[in-house]
Amino acid sequence: MSESRKLSQPHLLGIRDLTPEDIRLIFDTAVQFKEVLNRPIKKVPSLRDTTIVNLFFENSTRTRISFELAEKRLSADVVNFSASASSVSKGETLIDTVNNILSMKVDMVVMRHPAPGAAELLARKIKATIVNAGDGTHEHPTQALLDAFSMEEKIGSLEGKHIAIVGDILHSRVALSNILCLTKLGAKVRVCGPPTLIPKWIHTLGVEVSYDIRDTLEWADVANILRIQLERQDTRYFPSLREYALYFGINRALLEELGKDVVIMHPGPINRGVEITSDVADSSQSIILQQVENGVAIRMAVLYLLAPRATNA
Ligand code: NCD
Repeated sequence: MSESRKLSQPHLLGIRDLTPEDIRLIFDTAVQFKEVLNRPIKKVPSLRDTTIVNLFFENSTRTRISFELAEKRLSADVVNFSASASSVSKGETLIDTVNNILSMKVDMVVMRHPAPGAAELLARKIKATIVNAGDGTHEHPTQALLDAFSMEEKIGSLEGKHIAIVGDILHSRVALSNILCLTKLGAKVRVCGPPTLIPKWIHTLGVEVSYDIRDTLEWADVANILRIQLERQDTRYFPSLREYALYFGINRALLEELGKDVVIMHPGPINRGVEITSDVADSSQSIILQQVENGVAIRMAVLYLLAPRATNA
């Protein structure tokens, strides 16, 4: 792996901090790792001397397995931490927990946490490289990177392309990170959903707002469909899930009326029959499983570029 280019940041806390050149560097590196992942031996020695701890304070399937696989494919030593089985439940603070782990000579921390800003707090207080794997409703930078990478793979350069982000924009860290990443890559972004699930300030990020799903799909080259985040909703934002599905759900009949193919994406987990029907999620228009596949290569790229010893690899 050639190592002349570097990221402008020592951590990956959010897409907000990345330059378009950083994003390009991550994509170029991910292309090389994707090639490694298609070999019979899917492993490189790049992070052989690096120890990484995965700190997950929130449920996760894809992101957690994807980071762990990425770390193992890079030959890092990996430690997994699950909040429910830890001393956090005995009242220990986040900083104390992490400092104790770090005193066992850990180099990098991958963290998912329910509090927005938790990754940034660690980066300020802790001597280790921090990768944000999702901080509450704030950012989920590796998801946005793998989404944009998967879009480029499917439709080429995103410059001027129309990307719709549909659903629960208000509670979604994927939405914010996607908007920041896609606009940095020159795409035109539109958010679409019920008015109650779209923050009033969202236009300040340079995106269009629509409450009309048919019009949005007609406009879009790609639609990234988000899950209704019921676990974050403290009040009723729409009358019922059935009604949401009726007005904003993506189904085959709706797509067929468009007379063109929109690329369908979803970060998962999918609520089949709510934001997307099975015949759309499993169709040839959908690149949902390619997103998951690309996630490993993107996370390998991020870890490789941020690792303290990457320059010697
Ligand atoms: C997302 C997340 O956790 O923010 N999922 C993921 O990381 N693949 C989206 C979601 O939970 O809906």
